[in-house]
Amino acid sequence: MNAAIYPGSFDPMTLGHLDVIQRASKMFDTLIVSVLDNKAKNALFSVEERVSILKEATKDLPNVEVDSFNGLLIDYARQKDIHISVRGLRAITDFEYELQIAQTNRKLSNGNLDTVFLTTSLEYAYLSSSSVKEIASFHGDISQCVPDFVAELVYDKFKNK
Ligand code: PNS
Repeated sequence: MNAAIYPGSFDPMTLGHLDVIQRASKMFDTLIVSVLDNKAKNALFSVEERVSILKEATKDLPNVEVDSFNGLLIDYARQKDIHISVRGLRAITDFEYELQIAQTNRKLSNGNLDTVFLTTSLEYAYLSSSSVKEIASFHGDISQCVPDFVAELVYDKFKNK
């Protein structure tokens, strides 16, 4: 089976992430979007909340599954018997970081985990989860960055802060 994992923090999922998910879902029989459960990162949304957002956003994509993982991506991929990781590239600034992760994963997995990069659609090239959170924290407009239901959840988080 032709399957891939799209790993990430997704804190929160943006329209840029969704664009990569939609495009990658057409390339693979199964796409597992998996949220990294990284206790070290001070996330706005819990892993469960991020998984639930991703599930809602991808409910019309039958070959997309949503999951979470902790530890190394190569170990998670081995458990799932998947050999491809998908990542989005927004700009040249992403490239160095992504290249390093991709090469590390390939080396650590003895060639069993390769990375496929999708260049982000131009309309989303400026987007990041961090900027969404910063804009929302100052009550700015994030309606062009995330789906409407996600915008509401993000604003709710800052209401309680
Ligand atoms: O959305 P992000 O935060 O850019 O995603 C980064 C992610 C989750 C893909 C990356 O940090 C990751 O795979 N972490 C798991 C730990 C791991 O496997 N590290 C080895 C590569 S250096």
